[in-house]
Amino acid sequence: MSQDESGRSAAKTALAASLNRRSLLKGASLAAGSMAVGGGLLASTASGARAQGRTEITFASAKFYAKKTIAQIVDAYNESQTKIHVKYIELPPPSSSTEVHQALVQQLARRNGAPDVFTQDVVWIAEFAGAGWALPLDEYFPAAARAEYFPGLIDACTYQGKLTALPWIVDGGMLFYRKDLLEGIGAKVPETWADMTTIAMELQKSGKVDFGYLWQGKQAEVLVCDAVSVIGSNNGSILAADGKSATIGNDQAVEAIQFLYDTINKSKISPADVLSWDEEPSRLPFTGGKAAFLRNWSYVYGIAQDKSASSVVDKVGVAPLPHFAGGKSASCLGGYQYGVNASTKNREAAVEFLTWMSSPATQLRFAIDLGLAPTRPAVYDEAELAKEQPFMQTLQSVFTGATPRPVTPKYAQVSLALQSGLSRGLVSGDIKKELTATASKIDAILGA
Ligand code: GLC
Repeated sequence: MSQDESGRSAAKTALAASLNRRSLLKGASLAAGSMAVGGGLLASTASGARAQGRTEITFASAKFYAKKTIAQIVDAYNESQTKIHVKYIELPPPSSSTEVHQALVQQLARRNGAPDVFTQDVVWIAEFAGAGWALPLDEYFPAAARAEYFPGLIDACTYQGKLTALPWIVDGGMLFYRKDLLEGIGAKVPETWADMTTIAMELQKSGKVDFGYLWQGKQAEVLVCDAVSVIGSNNGSILAADGKSATIGNDQAVEAIQFLYDTINKSKISPADVLSWDEEPSRLPFTGGKAAFLRNWSYVYGIAQDKSASSVVDKVGVAPLPHFAGGKSASCLGGYQYGVNASTKNREAAVEFLTWMSSPATQLRFAIDLGLAPTRPAVYDEAELAKEQPFMQTLQSVFTGATPRPVTPKYAQVSLALQSGLSRGLVSGDIKKELTATASKIDAILGA
């Protein structure tokens, strides 16, 4: 047994002992728990009766659309053991990123311990850690445990040297395309935006599709994700490498956003509606058979293969997003992570639950039943995954090279500035002016 393994099993024994102590103290701790919980969206209903002698903890997560639900996974946990009862609180879907963020911030800022465990978008880790809302997890997940995840994700979960989040699911922006239509005109999967535009125009002109390329231009988090990919694929960036100043007013970024503007106004491969669409509105015409190309997240593949929801079953391929000549494909890193509330009054129970939720077996269930991609490389080798979700195995390379959004505790403010500046540029067409103004705004946010 390695040092880390023996450390882990000692930690487990200590955890088990402390949970036993805790169940003796259950009356006192439950009373304290329910007193401490405030009102609002995440109010817990901790009650001795509901928890039936167990320690009750709350778990808040954004909701994902799939054939099974997170609530069912939590139920499986509750049925698997006798000491802890988890109450699941469902937040809006990740496409309503600003709303999910607000709900969590309001609750975590109360520092009253609710929710005990939560899931967070990869872009909030620095903010939640910087505010002292996320419990450092290093002692519960030592080096050997951390080595079981994609290293880039462990980096993303580490703030000022401490592990303040634990990888849950990983995602990245990718290109969905119609295999049948490309084959029909003898076209190869496009690697550059110019080639994609040519093919999209041809398919649109021939009446095979109504739309060439669908993307997400709504003034929302996903617009930042779309922008990160086009800008990154033109050797540009949003912030300088040291993270201290904005580079989004530079020529590479302006050219990249100009390309998005041109999809609506020049090549006309995209309808003006994309400016008010986030993930689902843009996905619908694609799986309805009306579009040649779509930029979106991995969840689309499962829907595209589902006869009850898709008219393009077996006709959809997935590829890295195109790039500009001289650039390379840039997928925007997405995904959600677990966090433990630094103010939790049920630390051991929270960690115990997290350990179960992040185990290879549970990650496999999330992958197969909810289509959510694992953050442990080993799970990609599971025979059951290969059988049920073969597409997911091909994604590993997209995820491992993905481009992160700016990493800063002020990300929420930076994102709002980006969302509004990008949106204004895409509506007015005065991209240079709007992105230059956005860069100044971001510089002020970072310098403040
Ligand atoms: C996806 C990504 C998340 C991103 C969101 C934007 O859920 O996983 O990182 O912020 O989409 O809508």
